Amino acid sequence: MSDAVKVGFVPFSAPARGTLIVFCDDALKFGTAATKALGVAVATVKRAVASSQFKGKAGSALDLLAPEGLKVGRLIVIGAGKVAAIKDYDLLKLGGAVAGKIGAADTAVTVIADLPGAAMQPEQAAAIASGIRLRAYKFDRYKTKKKDDDSGAVNASVSIAVADPAAAKKAFTPGSHVVDGVILARELVNEPPNVLYPEEFAKRAAQLKKLGVEVQILDVKAMTQLKMGALLGVSQGSAHPGRTVIMRWNGGKKGEQPLAFVGKGVCFDTGGISIKPSASMEDMKGDMGGAACVVGLMHALAARKAKVNVVGAIGLVENMPDGNAQRPGDIVTSMSGQTIEIINTDAEGRLVLADVLWYVAQKHKPKFMVDLATLTGAIMVALGTDYAGLFSNNDQLAEHLTAVGQSTGEKVWRMPLGPEYDKQIDSQFADMKNTGSRNGGSITAAQFLQRFVDGTPWAHLDIAGTAMGAPKNDINQSWGSGYGVRLLNQLVAEYYESKK
Ligand code: BES
Ligand code: MN
Ligand code: ZN
Repeated sequence: MSDAVKVGFVPFSAPARGTLIVFCDDALKFGTAATKALGVAVATVKRAVASSQFKGKAGSALDLLAPEGLKVGRLIVIGAGKVAAIKDYDLLKLGGAVAGKIGAADTAVTVIADLPGAAMQPEQAAAIASGIRLRAYKFDRYKTKKKDDDSGAVNASVSIAVADPAAAKKAFTPGSHVVDGVILARELVNEPPNVLYPEEFAKRAAQLKKLGVEVQILDVKAMTQLKMGALLGVSQGSAHPGRTVIMRWNGGKKGEQPLAFVGKGVCFDTGGISIKPSASMEDMKGDMGGAACVVGLMHALAARKAKVNVVGAIGLVENMPDGNAQRPGDIVTSMSGQTIEIINTDAEGRLVLADVLWYVAQKHKPKFMVDLATLTGAIMVALGTDYAGLFSNNDQLAEHLTAVGQSTGEKVWRMPLGPEYDKQIDSQFADMKNTGSRNGGSITAAQFLQRFVDGTPWAHLDIAGTAMGAPKNDINQSWGSGYGVRLLNQLVAEYYESKK
């Protein structure tokens, strides 16, 4: 992975070297510190701005080489748009715009963290720093030849100039741990499936022990004893045995009910006997995006020592066609005792989650469970790639998720649940079948999951459109987006963490 960008904080008075970056608003106004940094070059810059198309729109930039009167080789003015009510997510994107302008030739970069109007707070400078790191990540581990024009701040050392570097550094500590969690999730999604199969994924999750997370790995024998017939049915056609990993972070009060996050970890989804067409099948290495998010989230929470008890649980399998693979028509018995007729072996994610959700509900009695899964192609038909589908049996949990979706930019859109959908998955031979009709495919998938939550307050996020292959944006240039880590970290921080 390339996350080599170094971000630090320096005082406004530190001399800029290499490339200098300043911000202005959409009235082309600079803040006091930015004006000061421009010094005698202010007039030149204003003339350049006036004769260009640059209007200070959020994320737009004006590049000036060797500006007269400045000791730097390059000056970049980045627009911050309207700054009066600038939000955290806007600052994250502003940081992304900064990283986006840094090229391979830039080794030293100074960013003046200053906007017109009120003085920038340490938390705001920290958000810019997070945005820089998020944007700069790229997955190039398997490229043996790096190209000269590879841009994106990868090797730059970025100094963010602020009024109080110590305060900014302190404010950046938790945010930087969250960025680490996002990057970990992206990394897992990007890894090829011959490298990241269930056992290897479990090993990577076990690294969380270094942060004080308790990690328990259930192997096939343990899962057989637990009677996880739904998960094991999916896994049985693969040469790689399945795993369930339970992670526990105890940052809250002793004995306090935990929150639970559950992830679909299908390390590769061929569809099984109901095999998928070959076009884009390679994308199905990302069918563990839910599990990746849970691991990234546990990293973020543990590293920033979140004052909360949390259980993370992931079901790891590979869905392969094989002489030993499960067939359409098979009936499996889930850990809950409910039987399932397999109609389509490609509807495997819900089978994996059925046993993990049931296990977590019984064993950990959580306050709520949120599961994340690249569950259905149908959610992309419904919502595209900007919103994840949200399904919930609990209005308050749904409202909290919607609110943090807005503030983090990891948006969710609530979808319906109800008996009219639920009856579509009744089976003539077993308690239920694993698919409904084509119409409303994401909803019947969610109805299936709901049959395994045992009344626990629960939300399901269908992240098939958002976890991978979504269009690149200001803060993400990677195929695996790490979607959900910032969303759920914020959910925990805002509503469930004790503040002391
Ligand atoms: N992993 C897929 C869903 C998916 C598709 C995720 C494309 C990301 C991109 C899931 O296991 C699946 O195959 N779902 C089927 C369900 C159907 C057989 C009822 C689907 O969506 O077609
Ligand atoms: Mn599938
Ligand atoms: Zn799948």
